[in-house]
Amino acid sequence: MTLNSVLITGASSGMGRALACALARPGRRLWLGGRNAQRLEATARHCADRGAHVTTTLGDVTDRRAMNDWVRGTERLDLVLACAGVTGGTHLPRPGLDPYEPAAQVHRIVETDLGGVLNTVLPALDVMRGQPRGADGVRGRICAISSVAGLVSFPGTPAYSAAKAAVDRFMVATGGNTRRAGILLSSVVCGFVNTPMVARNSFPMPGLSDVDTACRRILRGLARDERRIVFPRWLVLGSRMMDLLPIRVAETYYTRQPSGAPGTMPETDLT
Ligand SMILES: NC(=O)c1ccc[n+]([C@@H]2O[C@H](COP(=O)([O-])OP(=O)(O)OC[C@H]3O[C@@H](n4cnc5c(N)ncnc54)[C@H](OP(=O)(O)O)[C@@H]3O)[C@@H](O)[C@H]2O)c1
Repeated sequence: MTLNSVLITGASSGMGRALACALARPGRRLWLGGRNAQRLEATARHCADRGAHVTTTLGDVTDRRAMNDWVRGTERLDLVLACAGVTGGTHLPRPGLDPYEPAAQVHRIVETDLGGVLNTVLPALDVMRGQPRGADGVRGRICAISSVAGLVSFPGTPAYSAAKAAVDRFMVATGGNTRRAGILLSSVVCGFVNTPMVARNSFPMPGLSDVDTACRRILRGLARDERRIVFPRWLVLGSRMMDLLPIRVAETYYTRQPSGAPGTMPETDLT
């Protein structure tokens, strides 16, 4: 893979940070985005110490105009990693009442996890269409992080499941259209990864991967031109099987899972 110029959203934390650090090397240009200045600078320093030429941009992925300017302002993009995302589950106002997901949270998750990916991917596609193919025939690669949550209608995380499902479908379907032009799109359908996002979950997380393993799996998938990068496989397969069941049956199972219980995930950051 030719990777002279790489843009990463969500580079201030978790998987985005780990991918930036793994990709940092002498001569490589890294365009790193995030909202938290201190954490983004920490990633940038680490990458610069490894010899990468780093440019940081503070901003919100939901700001379509700013994202457009940032992505189009790069000289060439060999790889774009859309990692920025937020999560959140349902709440239980009082025992005995039905669980619900606050409207502000639903909007925040959809705007960030789906809108933010589109705000990254769409200008990146334009940039890549205008650049020549590399020696391997590839103009560029774009990868967005979906989730196993997007494979199921999980009552504990309705907005997150919906946004991640849409990201996966968009990336895989669009990738079919851009492939012949040498623009390769991938969706990462992963289970739990040990990052700050899940650090305050108060339930067991089956198949939890450490962030470096997740990062290696993503980079290996990209090197193999995988359209959908999945891990752990057993969880992805199990989730697909669950989705074939009648809704009532699947729902009964989901609502008995500790991860499906309202109030077990921290509140979504609505700032
Ligand atoms: N961890 C998991 O178990 C897991 C599983 C499946 C999928 N994923 C997905 O993987 C991706 C990375 O998550 P992670 O686990 O690495 O979480 P994380 O450690 O919480 O990192 C999330 C990153 O997204 C950035 N971000 C959030 N909202 C943003 C916004 N509006 N504008 C710009 N940046 C924003 C954060 O930036 P600041 O900190 O600077 O605000 C941070 O860099 C997410 O899309 C997540 O949904 C995670």
